[in-house]
Amino acid sequence: MSNAYFPETGMDWPAVEAELLHYKENDADWKKGRLPMYVFHAGDEVLEVVKNAYNMYFSENALGVKAFPSTARMEREVVRMAADLLNGDEEVCGNMTSGGTESIFLAVKTARDHRRATNPVPGTPNLVLPRSAHPAYYKAAQYMDLETIQVPVRDDFRADVEAMAAAVNENTIFILGSAPSFSLVVYDPITELGALALEKNLWLHIDACIGGYIAPHIRDIGYPVPDFDFSVPGVTSISADVHKMGFAAKPASTILYRNEGYYKHQGFHFNDWPRGVYSVPTFTGTRPGGAIAAAWAVLKFLGRDGYRDIARKAMDVRQRLMDGITAIPGMKILGNPEICMFTYTSEGYDINAVAEGLTRRGWMAGINAEPPALHMFVMPLHEVMVEDYLRDLNEAVADARSGKVTVDEVKLDY
Ligand SMILES: Cc1ncc(COP(=O)(O)O)c(C=O)c1O
Repeated sequence: MSNAYFPETGMDWPAVEAELLHYKENDADWKKGRLPMYVFHAGDEVLEVVKNAYNMYFSENALGVKAFPSTARMEREVVRMAADLLNGDEEVCGNMTSGGTESIFLAVKTARDHRRATNPVPGTPNLVLPRSAHPAYYKAAQYMDLETIQVPVRDDFRADVEAMAAAVNENTIFILGSAPSFSLVVYDPITELGALALEKNLWLHIDACIGGYIAPHIRDIGYPVPDFDFSVPGVTSISADVHKMGFAAKPASTILYRNEGYYKHQGFHFNDWPRGVYSVPTFTGTRPGGAIAAAWAVLKFLGRDGYRDIARKAMDVRQRLMDGITAIPGMKILGNPEICMFTYTSEGYDINAVAEGLTRRGWMAGINAEPPALHMFVMPLHEVMVEDYLRDLNEAVADARSGKVTVDEVKLDY
């Protein structure tokens, strides 16, 4: 059926629904654990809560704080809960945003404006970033005409703090540590980065987008997660996405600052137009009340003990997967990952051919380019797939070893 024209006559819901289901037919079956990322699911009970809360606020627009004071209240409470989870004191402040990218954008913009107001640099401000930094930093720099200096990571894929220190110059305003990074999912040395930030009077942003809402609970159940939050001196701001390992609805992230002195440079205030004052704290105008309510609801519903249960299940599944993977000759886990995410590669045969074999068996492989590897964000959802995955992985490895499957060109699945 063509969809090129605006329909002259509307369809009834059963027909619309049937078409939507038809459109979905080729999408990944995330409920069967076929995806290593994109969908963050902690079970049907949690999903139900998130959906109900979202639906209760489906129509409300959190831009209208006077019309919908409850959305502003829930946002404030989410920020307080996040600050508490990330070892912040009462002075920590911030907002909910539409995702990691918006939180990062705001951190960069706020760092720029804070520096401009307090101690301007002589030239174009720059950000010093480990190579593992998420592309959102380059995007923010590009949009805001800032420069970036990229610094290679160490052999263990973590930020090289000495090299970053050497890269800092008189125009540097911002340095970054990931907790963990998206690609190799390991933690940068945040304490050392904090010391560097304090020594050189720089803004240190911590990208805890992927891990921020689960890592504290993984630590609570006994795993050695390194310090990465406001407990570390020198940390200025933190982004943490509640729509990822917080299991809220998309789009929902949090951006937090150590205190108001930094935060006051974030908002946008304008009144030179016919309607008068337009004042917004974040980048977007209209803001989904549903996403705020869903985030609030999932944090309240799960509490620390609910997240600890999720953390336990995710770490158990991670262990079963890692055991099964490393039992295959040639396979190895990269870089001692700290939380429920890991990356693995092969020696003696092509990991991209293995990825191709997995793809042909209905899995999204999670391809990493440098070094060639496959990565997985593990959550309780993956409990259902461990045996099938390991069986198919063993077959894919056999095909790659025997040369039955080869790849000429790797198609990254991002
Ligand atoms: C470490 C890290 N930073 C930033 C982002 C960007 O987040 P979003 O896709 O919600 O904008 C991601 C996404 O996975 C991430 O893992």
